[in-house]
Amino acid sequence: MTGHHLEAAVQENIPRIRSRLSKASSVCVLAGAGNSADSGVPTFRGKDGLWRNFRAEELATPEAFRRDPKLVWEWYNWRREIIATKSPNAAHLALAAMERQSPSFTLITQNVDGLHAKAGSKNLIEIHGNIWKVRCTACGCISMNEDVPIPILPHCSQCNGLLRPYIVWFGESLDPADITRSMDALHRCDVLLVVGTSGIVQPAASFASVARNAGAYVVEVNVEATLNSDLVDETLIGRASEIVPMFIKELV
Ligand code: OAD
Repeated sequence: MTGHHLEAAVQENIPRIRSRLSKASSVCVLAGAGNSADSGVPTFRGKDGLWRNFRAEELATPEAFRRDPKLVWEWYNWRREIIATKSPNAAHLALAAMERQSPSFTLITQNVDGLHAKAGSKNLIEIHGNIWKVRCTACGCISMNEDVPIPILPHCSQCNGLLRPYIVWFGESLDPADITRSMDALHRCDVLLVVGTSGIVQPAASFASVARNAGAYVVEVNVEATLNSDLVDETLIGRASEIVPMFIKELV
């Protein structure tokens, strides 16, 4: 199929999905790196994805941080520098608008860039953390830190312990409160939108089936088919910034 045909196929499906969304008493969204791709934030597994050029186990694990905190902070500083220059795109803005139009709305995001909050999303669960927050490895306190670059190595203003990025790394567990909130939303929703995620990283990778098994209508938006595609009700192929705004009543 050519791009033109794909677009026509997507267009055909929009009114039906809009109608499901406007009738839904509860809407949930699971977002991934693809939602921020059109803002210029690199994804993890794409052509120029972050994990193509770096080994995850050398950078995004607690062991890596224990071994070489300077290297890990340098990588996060590089990502902070990139993200600091980026703004929410039409997909972020449309999801914030969708929340204002829905009686019950939850946005579960795997993204750590903070762009959903910047776009105005309120009931937001950042299950993988936030790149603009730090956590003390000694006293555990979490604080905002928007320094670009962050002075390496950063230390806690309370106890002088070493600060680490407030990110859920490989081998670490999600915050149990975030899991509970996410599960509630996934069980409650009538419609789940799965936007721009490869469906590779657990537990988020199983969220589409959780919602579908609980009776939700699940719609995926992605530039290509993913591991989620076989288990969702429909997949719309295209860019998040083009498709998601078509779901809402008002233009953003
Ligand atoms: P991935 O990089 O694995 O997947 C990004 C997905 O977005 C792919 O399926 C792409 O096809 C799709 N995509 C790319 N551009 C798009 C666009 N413009 N519109 C729509 N879709 C597009 O990213 P995630 O699934 O988010 O963890 O990865 C999950 C986690 O793995 C991340 O949260 C990160 C990483 O390790 C942490 O940072 C803890």
